[in-house]
Amino acid sequence: MLNSHTLQRSFESHFNAKPQWVVRAPGRVNLIGEHTDYNDGYVLPMAIDHAIWIALRPREDDQVHIHSLDLGQDSVFILNRIEKSEGWAEYLKGVAWALQGAGYSLRGWNGIITGDVPRGAGLSSSAAVELATARAFACTSGFDWDAKLMARLSQKAENQWVGVNCGIMDQMASAASQAGHALFMDCRTLDIQHAPLPQGVAVAVLDTSTRRGLVGSAYNERREQCEAGARFFGVKALRDVSVAEFKARQHEIQDEAVCKRARHIITENQRVLDAMDAMHAGDIATLGQLFNASHVSLRDDLEVSSTALDQIVESAQAQSACYGARMTGAGFGGCAVALVRADAVEAFTQAVSAEYRQRSGLEATIYVCQPSAGASVE
Ligand code: GLA
Repeated sequence: MLNSHTLQRSFESHFNAKPQWVVRAPGRVNLIGEHTDYNDGYVLPMAIDHAIWIALRPREDDQVHIHSLDLGQDSVFILNRIEKSEGWAEYLKGVAWALQGAGYSLRGWNGIITGDVPRGAGLSSSAAVELATARAFACTSGFDWDAKLMARLSQKAENQWVGVNCGIMDQMASAASQAGHALFMDCRTLDIQHAPLPQGVAVAVLDTSTRRGLVGSAYNERREQCEAGARFFGVKALRDVSVAEFKARQHEIQDEAVCKRARHIITENQRVLDAMDAMHAGDIATLGQLFNASHVSLRDDLEVSSTALDQIVESAQAQSACYGARMTGAGFGGCAVALVRADAVEAFTQAVSAEYRQRSGLEATIYVCQPSAGASVE
């Protein structure tokens, strides 16, 4: 497990000085509300106890010197002429570019970055890097931490600098979550509500060990199909269509794919609202059923699941300690999430690993995750 002492020691041996701050920003798992964020809809992610950490010390000039502990690589960029290139430092550069574009005047720093958010698994390691970077600049440049604004600027970095057309969910979860709570969010207004996790339930993240990048994937195609759906209904976004309105007019939609995508988004938004009601009522059984229904919708209507995701979800659902399970994140690979009876989580983990191995021939990694706080200075 990472801790800030190890990181401080690495900083000292690398830069020959003590770091002034250690910042962290968490990854996230989405409990429910998948692909709804870019439809102005509702989401319910939870920041996890896997994070990106940066130990840093301000510099006198406008340069950022950053060493990645995990990759053993260095990168340098100059704040008044940031140039695009390739590689992990683009996330940091993109955030600097977005902050400067929003009028912040930034000061350089030396930093060491490390983390334990699995990369490419759908747990938002890139959002965690972005928010940790924003936190680092807030320290060296002395501006107040505005979680929503930092999330929006990090999303801008990802969209326009890195070139991934993601929604706002991951950055908001990493920026604004509260320990012990999931984060309900209206992605149109960015209104948030901290929703306590019900007692006696554990959140298990089931990594299929299969990967699929977002850039150039079917993600953008899904976005376009959803926009076509919104145009059909004559609304700004599919968030504005109720399940009843959809049912009344679905037969008029010519393009079958558009019809299915719209059905997923519209029913998923309702499931998020229902999930919030279930959480407030402490009704874990209903919450679990909503998870299961979400998976079916993602598999059959949005068509973003995969064989491995289906196998791991079914392996989880087959366990009596499991209330419900679904794929999580963008899809096509990566992770599923399951709600599990807390007192049976170890047996659950073993049984799912064995069943998944037998069905897929692959090794799963299972993380029992704690709901954590958003980006912080340690
Ligand atoms: C990725 C994107 C998010 C969201 C999810 C799907 O994680 O970064 O904005 O669209 O996919 O819910």
